[in-house]
Amino acid sequence: MPKPFISSEEIFEGLAPATVLELERLHGNTDLVRVFEYAGFAGPFTAVTPWELAAPDGNTVINASGYAANPFGDRYPPLKKFLSRLIEEDCQQSLPQQSTSAWRSALEANLVQTIASVDESHADSRVFFSNSGSEAIEAAIKFAKASRQDATTFINFEKSFHGKTTGSLSLTANEDSQRPFRPLAYKTLTLPFGDLPAFEQAIKTYGGKNFIAVVVEPVQGEGGIIVPPEGFLSGIDEIAKKHGILVIADEIQSGFGRSGYWVPSVEWGEMSPDIFTFAKPLGGGIVPIGATVARKNVFAKMLGGLRCKTHSNTFGGNSLAMAVGLKSLEIIRDENLVERSRKLGAVGLSRLQALAMRHPDLIEDVRGIGMWQAIVFKPVVPAAVALGMKDVIGEFTTMLGMMMLHRAGVHANIAINAHRTVRLTPPLTIPEALHNEMFDRIDTAAEQMKSARRMLLKTPPKSLFDLTRVSVGL
Ligand SMILES: Cc1ncc(COP(=O)(O)O)c(C=O)c1O
Repeated sequence: MPKPFISSEEIFEGLAPATVLELERLHGNTDLVRVFEYAGFAGPFTAVTPWELAAPDGNTVINASGYAANPFGDRYPPLKKFLSRLIEEDCQQSLPQQSTSAWRSALEANLVQTIASVDESHADSRVFFSNSGSEAIEAAIKFAKASRQDATTFINFEKSFHGKTTGSLSLTANEDSQRPFRPLAYKTLTLPFGDLPAFEQAIKTYGGKNFIAVVVEPVQGEGGIIVPPEGFLSGIDEIAKKHGILVIADEIQSGFGRSGYWVPSVEWGEMSPDIFTFAKPLGGGIVPIGATVARKNVFAKMLGGLRCKTHSNTFGGNSLAMAVGLKSLEIIRDENLVERSRKLGAVGLSRLQALAMRHPDLIEDVRGIGMWQAIVFKPVVPAAVALGMKDVIGEFTTMLGMMMLHRAGVHANIAINAHRTVRLTPPLTIPEALHNEMFDRIDTAAEQMKSARRMLLKTPPKSLFDLTRVSVGL
């Protein structure tokens, strides 16, 4: 029998958490919801401050999650005020596909200006808007291919993450994500990240003319915050240019503050990419948005003249997303959040480094740049025992690490392309005291746990059983 329609009023009044869980289990991504539930962080959470979430049982956690797409936290007052004004006063057409738009034009100009302020060669670049990071990559792929018609292959890097739509998946070096969908849409050559001689050798071996573009995250996010060695990014940029290979910098996670730079591929990596992709922080934690910025000549190869409709989408450039994107860039600039990310990030990383020194049986490595950090746990089952089960033990370790941090009051992220790794991506606006408190909580949790093995021993048998069941598909 069809169930009654759920009204928006009921949500405002507060849908019971048990109902939310039941509906998600029944009609959503059931097994993902089960994992959240067994791990103890299914929520649904409510924002008690922009930086803290309350669970249904009343416990609050510091929100260091959100996949780096939450630059300000929830209901950040300046953005909240802006949105109220937008709803009350704005009368721009919401979907201006067949006309110009004030919000869109301003965001295009500001994005180009932001890039040109660090790389003048982009002063006349063009912007294409879409609705997610993956879609920004799809556009980048098409811009590149349209420019290099005779070339066949993209170069990407081990542990890279560029999205999961069919085109972007070709560039995401994750065997589990790719395997069911082979053959993939695009041919790629996957090289070790940070290994400039390997890049040089590949171009020598296969010839530069075969490559459409090299796609690189200046710092790998889902790979577990991997900062490449100095000279790597500028080196690939130089070699690629010598051979006419286009350079695509995927700044979806790293750009506009998270790494402590506006555009780290340029400012830190000394590259001059032909195409940039941006997304996450531009949405202010509220709206989906993707932006692909390409040099004028590259843009024209796909969208010049009569080809101007070769690539398009319905919602890209909509006024709500453009307005929020514009305001988000403005907040990042006016509140000096890029510098703040660099300053507080350095404090956070040194706290994590000290923690790793104190707990070598729990923590294998810590990494970070800006307010973007990774903790790599030791495996919860030693290597000899786990022989042949490295991946499963890796996944388990990640979940148990997430659970430990959550119980301590820190809600973190997994890293999609790295086992045993959790990431901290707090809002860039988090008050300094709360930022310190986050590391205090992590210290306390590690002090109590002491070793990775104890993370396993301390997990209630029922949770372990449930997590095992869902990981083997039962
Ligand atoms: C570097 C990078 N590129 C692309 C993507 C895909 O973005 P989306 O999940 O919005 O499709 C992500 C998402 O995490 C990312 O980190």
